[in-house]
Amino acid sequence: MTSDDDQRTAERAKLRHHGDVDAAPGLVDFAVNVRLERPPAWLRDRLRVALDRLGAYPSAEADALARAAVAARHGRRPDEVLVLNGGAEGFALLPALRPRHAAVIHPSFTEPEVALVDAGVPVTRVPLDPADGYALRPDLVPADADLVVLGNPTNPTSVLHPAAAVRALARPGRVLVVDEAFADAVPGERGSLAGDADTPGLLVLRSLTKTWALPGLRAGYALGAPDLLARLAAPRPHWPVGTLVLEAVAACCSAAAVAEADAAARELSRHRDDFARALAELPGVAVHLPAAGPFLLLRVPGGDRVLAGLRARGIAVRRADTFPGLGVDHLRVAVRGPARNALLLDALRAELAVSDVAMEVFT
Ligand SMILES: Cc1ncc(COP(=O)(O)O)c(C=O)c1O
Repeated sequence: MTSDDDQRTAERAKLRHHGDVDAAPGLVDFAVNVRLERPPAWLRDRLRVALDRLGAYPSAEADALARAAVAARHGRRPDEVLVLNGGAEGFALLPALRPRHAAVIHPSFTEPEVALVDAGVPVTRVPLDPADGYALRPDLVPADADLVVLGNPTNPTSVLHPAAAVRALARPGRVLVVDEAFADAVPGERGSLAGDADTPGLLVLRSLTKTWALPGLRAGYALGAPDLLARLAAPRPHWPVGTLVLEAVAACCSAAAVAEADAAARELSRHRDDFARALAELPGVAVHLPAAGPFLLLRVPGGDRVLAGLRARGIAVRRADTFPGLGVDHLRVAVRGPARNALLLDALRAELAVSDVAMEVFT
C-alpha cells in the first residue's frame, strides 16, 4: 500500500468512528444519543405481537400501513415516503442517485460522506465557520454540486438552521438531502422540512432510533418526490424492510407517539439549557450555543486528556475530533436527566481540577 492509501484508510476509519465505540458496558453513557435504555413498554408490546407475523414475508399491506402513518404524521402523500432500515440506510443509498459532484456541509455526521466517497463520487467538504455560529452559507456550496447533504439539527454542533436557510440551498437539477435524525427532539419540530413537498429535489431522511431507543432494530424513512424515492430505492433487494421495522414505523408515527415525543423534546430542552449553563460555568469549558439537539458540543483545553480522565472516572463522552472541522479539544455530550447530568458535571469538575494542577506542574 502507498502512503496515500494508508492516509485514505486512516481517514475513512476516523469518519466511521461512532459514539457506540466511546461508550462501553459499565460506563455512564454520554456518548450515544439514544434517549432511553430500551423502547417504551407500549412499543415493545406492539413489536411482541408482530413477532407472530415473522413466519410470513413482509407484506405490501404492512408497508402501505407504515407509509400511510408516516404520510399522515407529516402531511405528505404515502407515495412520498420510503421506509428505511434507519436513516443510515438512506445515506448508503445516495450513490444510487448517481451524483456527479456532491457537497457535504461540515461539521456534521460523517456516514453520507463515507458512502459517497466509497462509491467514487467526488465530494467537496463545505466547512462552516464556528465564529459565525456555523451558519449556513449557500455561496460556499459549489454551484455545480448536484447533491448537497447537511444535518438539521446538526450532529455534533447541535445547531438548528432555519428552514428558509436550508431551502435556499435548493437549485434546479440538485438533490438537497437533509438529515433530520434529531428533528423529533426539537419541540414542535421547528425548522423541519419533512412536510415540505414543494422544494424541488428535497430529500428528508428521518430516524426513529434515537427517540424510541431502536438502534438495534434500525428504523427510519425518507420523504421526497416519488421519482426521487424510486431512484434511491433502485438497488434495494426485494423485501428491503422487515415486518418489525414496518410495525415500529407505523407505531412511532401514531398521533399518540408524536405527542409523547414532543413532550419528551420539551422536557429535554429544559434539561439541556440547565446542563449547558452549568457546563459553561466550569473553568475553561466553552459550550456551543444556541443548541437545539439532545446533545452539546463542548470545547475543553486538552479535550483528549479530559476524555480519558472522564473514562477513568466511569463516564463516556464522544470524542469529536473525528468530525471534519473539529479537533481534540472538542467533545460531544448527550443530554440526560438532571441526576445523570450532575454525574458528568461532578466528574468533569474534578477532572478539570486535576488537569489544572497537571498543567501548572508542566508549565
Ligand atoms: C446525525 C445522524 N444521522 C443519522 C444517523 C443514523 O441513524 P439511524 O440509527 O436511524 O440509522 C445518526 C446516528 O448516529 C446520526 O447521528
